[in-house]
Amino acid sequence: MSEQGNHLLLGVGGSIAAYRTPDLAAQLRRSGFEVKTVLSRAAEQFVTKTSVAAMSRGEVYTSSDALTDIWRPTHIELADWTDTALIAPATAATIGKLACGIAEGLLAESFLALKPEARRFVAPAMNGNMLNQPSVQRNLEQLDQDSFTIIASRTGELACGYEGNGKIARIDNIVEAVS
Ligand SMILES: Cc1cc2nc3c(=O)[nH]c(=O)nc-3n(C[C@H](O)[C@H](O)[C@H](O)COP(=O)(O)O)c2cc1C
Repeated sequence: MSEQGNHLLLGVGGSIAAYRTPDLAAQLRRSGFEVKTVLSRAAEQFVTKTSVAAMSRGEVYTSSDALTDIWRPTHIELADWTDTALIAPATAATIGKLACGIAEGLLAESFLALKPEARRFVAPAMNGNMLNQPSVQRNLEQLDQDSFTIIASRTGELACGYEGNGKIARIDNIVEAVS
């Protein structure tokens, strides 16, 4: 656990790897983090709010929760609460939004509103050709320059049927990286 506070914001992108999110959230909780989760609209196709809430024992937000209080929007509330921010799985779309400062959707809005001192991590997961695309590589390099730690993906059999790099890092490696 870092010397900073234990508030961890877990962002979940629309990758098939989101099926692992409840397990990741549970392991983050067991390692001492208080976890709040934001599911992107696409992530809601791959994992349920209920399963993540049960395993993280924390609040789970979706884009429909973006506006609960006009004076205190959800993305600002979440960003101000956060000591450590992790996107796992991080999609090419969300990586692109963060690299370019595009606040579209609760997930990107919350991450773009983070305090300067918040620790930032992304664990990419995608098809190997997507990952190797010069634009995606440029966006990852930009995030690296912008104080994000990139938790490297693995080589293996991908859900799309390809063999290659792009498989999300192991859960224990993700937990170790942020702890
Ligand atoms: C079955 C399926 C699997 C997908 N898996 C991935 C993935 O692993 N990585 C990725 O970057 N995009 C993947 N996509 C595409 C994203 O879901 C899409 O780009 C979406 O707009 C991402 O939005 P988000 O970043 O807000 O979650 C997948 C789409 C489908 C239909």
